Amino acid sequence: MITIKILVTGASGNVGSYVVNELLKFNEKVKVAGTNIKKLDVKFGNKVDSVYFDFTDRTTFKEALDGVDRVFLMRPPHLGKPKDLYPFIDEIKAHNIKLVSFLSLMGVESNTIPPHHKIEKYIEKLEIPYSHVRPGFFMQNLSGIHCVEIKEKNEIFIPAGKSKTSFIDAADIGSSIAILLHNPGKYKNTAHTITGPEALDYFEVAEILSKITGRKIKYTKPGFLKYRNYYIKKRGLDKTYVNITVALYFMTRMGTAKKITNSFYELTGRKPHTFEEFVKNNINDFV
Ligand SMILES: NC(=O)c1ccc[n+]([C@@H]2O[C@H](COP(=O)([O-])OP(=O)(O)OC[C@H]3O[C@@H](n4cnc5c(N)ncnc54)[C@H](OP(=O)(O)O)[C@@H]3O)[C@@H](O)[C@H]2O)c1
Repeated sequence: MITIKILVTGASGNVGSYVVNELLKFNEKVKVAGTNIKKLDVKFGNKVDSVYFDFTDRTTFKEALDGVDRVFLMRPPHLGKPKDLYPFIDEIKAHNIKLVSFLSLMGVESNTIPPHHKIEKYIEKLEIPYSHVRPGFFMQNLSGIHCVEIKEKNEIFIPAGKSKTSFIDAADIGSSIAILLHNPGKYKNTAHTITGPEALDYFEVAEILSKITGRKIKYTKPGFLKYRNYYIKKRGLDKTYVNITVALYFMTRMGTAKKITNSFYELTGRKPHTFEEFVKNNINDFV
Protein backbone atom coordinates (compact mmCIF):
# COMPACT_ATOMS: atom_id res chain seq x y z
CA MET A 1 0.00 0.00 0.00
CA ILE A 2 1.32 3.45 -0.89
CA THR A 3 1.15 5.91 2.00
CA ILE A 4 0.49 9.47 0.95
CA LYS A 5 2.68 12.00 2.69
CA ILE A 6 2.95 15.73 3.26
CA LEU A 7 6.29 17.26 2.26
CA VAL A 8 7.62 19.87 4.70
CA THR A 9 10.39 22.06 3.29
CA GLY A 10 12.51 24.04 5.76
CA ALA A 11 11.56 21.35 8.29
CA SER A 12 14.44 22.22 10.61
CA GLY A 13 13.52 25.91 10.57
CA ASN A 14 11.51 28.14 12.93
CA VAL A 15 8.13 27.41 11.36
CA GLY A 16 8.76 24.07 9.58
CA SER A 17 9.62 22.25 12.79
CA TYR A 18 6.27 23.24 14.33
CA VAL A 19 4.44 22.31 11.11
CA VAL A 20 5.91 18.80 11.33
CA ASN A 21 4.98 18.27 14.98
CA GLU A 22 1.45 19.61 14.49
CA LEU A 23 0.88 17.40 11.42
CA LEU A 24 2.02 14.36 13.40
CA LYS A 25 -0.66 15.18 16.00
CA PHE A 26 -3.20 14.80 13.15
CA ASN A 27 -1.67 11.39 12.36
CA GLU A 28 -0.48 12.65 8.98
CA LYS A 29 2.55 10.98 7.37
CA VAL A 30 5.30 13.53 6.94
CA LYS A 31 8.39 13.74 4.73
CA VAL A 32 10.88 16.32 6.00
CA ALA A 33 13.21 18.03 3.54
CA GLY A 34 16.41 20.04 3.74
CA THR A 35 20.08 20.17 2.82
CA ASN A 36 21.20 18.97 6.25
CA ILE A 37 19.84 15.46 6.75
CA LYS A 38 21.75 14.97 9.99
CA LYS A 39 19.97 17.98 11.53
CA LEU A 40 16.61 16.53 10.44
CA ASP A 41 17.41 13.09 11.86
CA VAL A 42 18.46 14.56 15.21
CA LYS A 43 15.29 16.67 15.35
CA PHE A 44 12.67 14.16 14.25
CA GLY A 45 14.23 10.67 14.52
CA ASN A 46 12.10 7.92 13.01
CA LYS A 47 8.78 9.76 13.41
CA VAL A 48 9.09 10.95 9.78
CA ASP A 49 10.79 10.17 6.47
CA SER A 50 13.61 12.50 5.53
CA VAL A 51 14.90 13.49 2.11
CA TYR A 52 17.88 15.49 0.89
CA PHE A 53 16.40 18.48 -0.91
CA ASP A 54 17.92 21.67 -2.28
CA PHE A 55 15.83 24.40 -3.96
CA THR A 56 18.88 25.21 -6.12
CA ASP A 57 19.39 21.63 -7.34
CA ARG A 58 16.66 20.25 -9.64
CA THR A 59 17.99 16.71 -9.36
CA THR A 60 16.69 16.58 -5.76
CA PHE A 61 13.05 17.49 -6.60
CA LYS A 62 11.64 14.18 -7.85
CA GLU A 63 12.53 12.14 -4.79
CA ALA A 64 11.23 14.90 -2.50
CA LEU A 65 7.80 14.85 -4.20
CA ASP A 66 7.54 11.10 -4.60
CA GLY A 67 4.42 9.80 -2.74
CA VAL A 68 3.45 13.34 -1.66
CA ASP A 69 0.06 15.02 -2.18
CA ARG A 70 0.47 18.21 -0.10
CA VAL A 71 3.41 20.57 0.42
CA PHE A 72 4.49 23.11 3.01
CA LEU A 73 6.61 25.51 0.98
CA MET A 74 8.93 28.08 2.52
CA ARG A 75 11.60 30.37 1.06
CA PRO A 76 14.97 30.03 2.81
CA PRO A 77 15.88 33.58 3.86
CA HIS A 78 19.12 33.70 1.82
CA LEU A 79 17.31 32.90 -1.46
CA GLY A 80 16.40 36.50 -2.22
CA LYS A 81 15.07 36.18 -5.78
CA PRO A 82 11.56 34.81 -6.37
CA LYS A 83 12.97 32.92 -9.37
CA ASP A 84 15.08 30.81 -7.00
CA LEU A 85 11.87 28.96 -6.09
CA TYR A 86 10.26 28.73 -9.55
CA PRO A 87 11.94 25.46 -10.71
CA PHE A 88 10.59 23.63 -7.66
CA ILE A 89 7.14 25.20 -8.05
CA ASP A 90 7.16 24.00 -11.69
CA GLU A 91 7.90 20.49 -10.42
CA ILE A 92 5.02 20.76 -7.91
CA LYS A 93 2.74 21.64 -10.83
CA ALA A 94 3.83 18.46 -12.61
CA HIS A 95 2.67 16.35 -9.64
CA ASN A 96 -0.88 15.73 -8.50
CA ILE A 97 -0.68 18.07 -5.51
CA LYS A 98 -3.90 18.82 -3.59
CA LEU A 99 -2.61 21.85 -1.67
CA VAL A 100 0.53 23.97 -1.32
CA SER A 101 0.70 26.09 1.78
CA PHE A 102 3.31 28.79 1.19
CA LEU A 103 4.87 30.67 4.10
CA SER A 104 4.43 34.22 2.84
CA LEU A 105 4.43 37.57 4.63
CA MET A 106 1.82 39.97 5.98
CA GLY A 107 0.81 42.67 3.49
CA VAL A 108 2.31 41.17 0.31
CA GLU A 109 -1.06 41.17 -1.43
CA SER A 110 -0.55 44.94 -1.87
CA ASN A 111 3.25 45.17 -1.58
CA THR A 112 5.19 43.92 -4.60
CA ILE A 113 8.68 44.44 -3.11
CA PRO A 114 9.21 41.33 -0.92
CA PRO A 115 9.96 38.15 -2.93
CA HIS A 116 6.88 36.50 -1.40
CA HIS A 117 4.57 38.60 -3.59
CA LYS A 118 5.88 37.17 -6.86
CA ILE A 119 6.09 33.65 -5.42
CA GLU A 120 2.39 33.77 -4.45
CA LYS A 121 1.50 35.06 -7.91
CA TYR A 122 3.56 32.34 -9.60
CA ILE A 123 1.80 29.57 -7.65
CA GLU A 124 -1.58 31.09 -8.57
CA LYS A 125 -0.60 31.53 -12.23
CA LEU A 126 0.23 27.82 -12.49
CA GLU A 127 -3.20 27.06 -10.97
CA ILE A 128 -1.75 24.96 -8.18
CA PRO A 129 -4.29 24.66 -5.31
CA TYR A 130 -2.89 27.00 -2.65
CA SER A 131 -3.34 28.28 0.84
CA HIS A 132 -0.98 31.18 1.48
CA VAL A 133 -0.09 31.99 5.06
CA ARG A 134 0.90 35.61 5.59
CA PRO A 135 2.27 35.99 9.11
CA GLY A 136 3.48 39.07 10.90
CA PHE A 137 7.04 39.21 12.25
CA PHE A 138 8.07 36.14 14.25
CA MET A 139 8.68 36.39 18.00
CA GLN A 140 11.56 33.99 17.24
CA ASN A 141 13.46 36.91 15.61
CA LEU A 142 14.11 38.07 19.18
CA SER A 143 15.08 34.63 20.55
CA GLY A 144 17.02 33.71 17.38
CA ILE A 145 18.93 36.16 15.22
CA HIS A 146 18.73 39.10 17.67
CA CYS A 147 19.34 37.21 20.92
CA VAL A 148 23.13 37.64 20.61
CA GLU A 149 22.95 41.36 21.45
CA ILE A 150 20.20 40.76 24.02
CA LYS A 151 22.28 38.16 25.85
CA GLU A 152 25.72 39.76 25.49
CA LYS A 153 24.89 43.48 25.70
CA ASN A 154 21.33 43.67 27.13
CA GLU A 155 20.45 45.49 23.92
CA ILE A 156 17.85 45.13 21.15
CA PHE A 157 19.64 46.14 17.94
CA ILE A 158 16.89 46.44 15.31
CA PRO A 159 16.31 49.45 12.98
CA ALA A 160 12.54 49.64 13.45
CA GLY A 161 12.36 53.18 14.85
CA LYS A 162 9.24 53.72 16.95
CA SER A 163 7.06 51.46 14.82
CA LYS A 164 4.73 48.77 16.15
CA THR A 165 4.71 45.08 15.25
CA SER A 166 2.01 42.43 15.84
CA PHE A 167 4.57 39.68 16.59
CA ILE A 168 3.43 36.07 16.27
CA ASP A 169 4.91 32.90 17.76
CA ALA A 170 6.19 30.49 15.05
CA ALA A 171 4.48 27.74 17.07
CA ASP A 172 1.14 29.41 16.31
CA ILE A 173 2.03 29.73 12.61
CA GLY A 174 2.88 26.01 12.57
CA SER A 175 -0.50 25.11 14.13
CA SER A 176 -2.32 27.18 11.51
CA ILE A 177 -0.44 25.65 8.58
CA ALA A 178 -1.05 22.10 9.85
CA ILE A 179 -4.80 22.79 9.94
CA LEU A 180 -4.74 24.07 6.35
CA LEU A 181 -2.75 21.08 5.08
CA HIS A 182 -4.92 18.62 7.02
CA ASN A 183 -8.06 20.06 5.36
CA PRO A 184 -6.97 20.67 1.74
CA GLY A 185 -10.49 20.73 0.27
CA LYS A 186 -11.79 23.26 2.77
CA TYR A 187 -8.89 25.68 2.44
CA LYS A 188 -8.13 25.40 -1.30
CA ASN A 189 -7.29 28.78 -2.89
CA THR A 190 -7.37 30.81 0.32
CA ALA A 191 -4.98 33.24 2.03
CA HIS A 192 -4.62 33.88 5.77
CA THR A 193 -2.99 36.87 7.45
CA ILE A 194 -1.98 35.57 10.86
CA THR A 195 -0.78 37.85 13.65
CA GLY A 196 -0.24 37.89 17.37
CA PRO A 197 -2.83 39.43 19.71
CA GLU A 198 -1.15 42.84 20.23
CA ALA A 199 1.07 45.35 18.38
CA LEU A 200 4.15 46.34 20.37
CA ASP A 201 6.96 48.78 19.70
CA TYR A 202 10.49 47.68 20.55
CA PHE A 203 10.55 49.83 23.70
CA GLU A 204 7.62 47.71 24.96
CA VAL A 205 9.42 44.54 23.82
CA ALA A 206 12.47 45.66 25.87
CA GLU A 207 10.24 46.28 28.93
CA ILE A 208 8.73 42.79 28.74
CA LEU A 209 12.16 41.20 28.27
CA SER A 210 13.50 43.20 31.26
CA LYS A 211 10.53 42.18 33.43
CA ILE A 212 10.81 38.45 32.66
CA THR A 213 14.62 38.12 32.65
CA GLY A 214 15.18 40.48 35.59
CA ARG A 215 17.87 42.36 33.62
CA LYS A 216 17.62 45.92 32.25
CA ILE A 217 17.34 45.39 28.47
CA LYS A 218 17.36 48.50 26.27
CA TYR A 219 16.09 49.18 22.77
CA THR A 220 18.82 51.31 21.17
CA LYS A 221 16.89 52.14 17.95
CA PRO A 222 19.84 52.00 15.47
CA GLY A 223 19.66 53.59 12.00
CA PHE A 224 19.66 51.44 8.85
CA LEU A 225 23.34 52.01 7.96
CA LYS A 226 24.61 51.19 11.43
CA TYR A 227 22.45 48.04 11.50
CA ARG A 228 23.53 46.92 8.01
CA ASN A 229 27.25 47.44 8.69
CA TYR A 230 27.08 45.68 12.03
CA TYR A 231 25.21 42.61 10.76
CA ILE A 232 27.32 42.19 7.61
CA LYS A 233 30.77 43.17 8.97
CA LYS A 234 30.65 42.25 12.66
CA ARG A 235 28.14 39.39 12.67
CA GLY A 236 29.22 38.15 9.20
CA LEU A 237 25.65 37.48 8.01
CA ASP A 238 24.71 36.95 4.37
CA LYS A 239 24.45 40.29 2.52
CA THR A 240 21.25 39.36 0.62
CA TYR A 241 19.58 38.37 3.86
CA VAL A 242 20.61 41.59 5.64
CA ASN A 243 19.48 43.74 2.68
CA ILE A 244 16.05 42.08 2.69
CA THR A 245 15.70 42.73 6.42
CA VAL A 246 16.63 46.42 5.89
CA ALA A 247 13.80 46.69 3.33
CA LEU A 248 11.41 44.93 5.74
CA TYR A 249 12.30 47.25 8.63
CA PHE A 250 11.89 50.22 6.30
CA MET A 251 8.36 49.03 5.57
CA THR A 252 7.77 48.35 9.25
CA ARG A 253 8.54 52.01 9.94
CA MET A 254 5.84 52.87 7.36
CA GLY A 255 3.37 50.96 9.58
CA THR A 256 3.06 47.72 7.56
CA ALA A 257 3.72 45.34 10.49
CA LYS A 258 1.16 46.51 13.05
CA LYS A 259 -2.13 45.08 11.79
CA ILE A 260 -3.90 42.64 14.12
CA THR A 261 -6.19 39.97 12.68
CA ASN A 262 -8.53 37.31 14.08
CA SER A 263 -7.42 34.63 11.59
CA PHE A 264 -5.49 32.51 14.06
CA TYR A 265 -8.54 32.23 16.32
CA GLU A 266 -10.80 31.49 13.33
CA LEU A 267 -8.54 28.62 12.23
CA THR A 268 -7.64 27.09 15.58
CA GLY A 269 -10.32 28.22 18.08
CA ARG A 270 -7.46 29.39 20.37
CA LYS A 271 -5.94 32.76 21.18
CA PRO A 272 -2.41 33.32 19.83
CA HIS A 273 0.45 33.57 22.35
CA THR A 274 1.30 37.00 23.73
CA PHE A 275 4.95 38.13 23.61
CA GLU A 276 5.13 37.84 27.39
CA GLU A 277 3.97 34.20 27.26
CA PHE A 278 6.52 33.55 24.53
CA VAL A 279 9.40 34.95 26.61
CA LYS A 280 8.31 32.88 29.62
CA ASN A 281 8.03 29.72 27.48
CA ASN A 282 11.46 30.32 25.92
CA ILE A 283 13.32 31.95 28.79
CA ASN A 284 16.48 29.89 28.20
CA ASP A 285 16.99 31.66 24.86
CA PHE A 286 17.36 35.00 26.65
CA VAL A 287 19.60 34.16 29.61
N1 LIG B 1 11.24 36.13 10.49
C1 LIG B 1 10.09 36.74 10.30
O1 LIG B 1 9.68 37.60 11.08
C2 LIG B 1 9.25 36.38 9.10
C3 LIG B 1 7.96 36.93 8.98
C4 LIG B 1 7.17 36.56 7.88
C5 LIG B 1 7.69 35.69 6.92
N2 LIG B 1 8.96 35.20 7.07
C6 LIG B 1 9.49 34.29 6.05
O2 LIG B 1 9.70 32.99 6.61
C7 LIG B 1 10.73 32.35 5.87
C8 LIG B 1 11.74 31.75 6.84
O3 LIG B 1 11.13 30.76 7.63
P1 LIG B 1 11.85 30.16 8.92
O4 LIG B 1 12.23 31.30 9.83
O5 LIG B 1 11.00 29.07 9.44
O6 LIG B 1 13.20 29.57 8.30
P2 LIG B 1 14.60 29.38 9.03
O7 LIG B 1 14.41 29.06 10.47
O8 LIG B 1 15.50 30.50 8.64
O9 LIG B 1 15.14 28.06 8.35
C9 LIG B 1 15.57 28.00 7.01
C10 LIG B 1 15.29 26.57 6.49
O10 LIG B 1 15.60 26.52 5.11
C11 LIG B 1 16.31 25.32 4.83
N3 LIG B 1 17.20 25.59 3.69
C12 LIG B 1 18.23 26.46 3.64
N4 LIG B 1 18.77 26.45 2.41
C13 LIG B 1 18.06 25.56 1.67
C14 LIG B 1 18.13 25.12 0.32
N5 LIG B 1 19.05 25.59 -0.54
N6 LIG B 1 17.25 24.20 -0.10
C15 LIG B 1 16.32 23.67 0.75
N7 LIG B 1 16.19 24.06 2.04
C16 LIG B 1 17.06 24.99 2.49
C17 LIG B 1 17.07 25.02 6.12
O11 LIG B 1 17.30 23.64 6.26
P3 LIG B 1 18.70 22.94 5.86
O12 LIG B 1 19.75 23.63 6.67
O13 LIG B 1 18.50 21.48 6.19
O14 LIG B 1 18.85 23.14 4.39
C18 LIG B 1 16.09 25.51 7.20
O15 LIG B 1 15.22 24.48 7.59
C19 LIG B 1 11.34 33.39 4.94
O16 LIG B 1 10.87 33.25 3.65
C20 LIG B 1 10.87 34.69 5.57
O17 LIG B 1 10.81 35.74 4.63
C21 LIG B 1 9.73 35.51 8.14
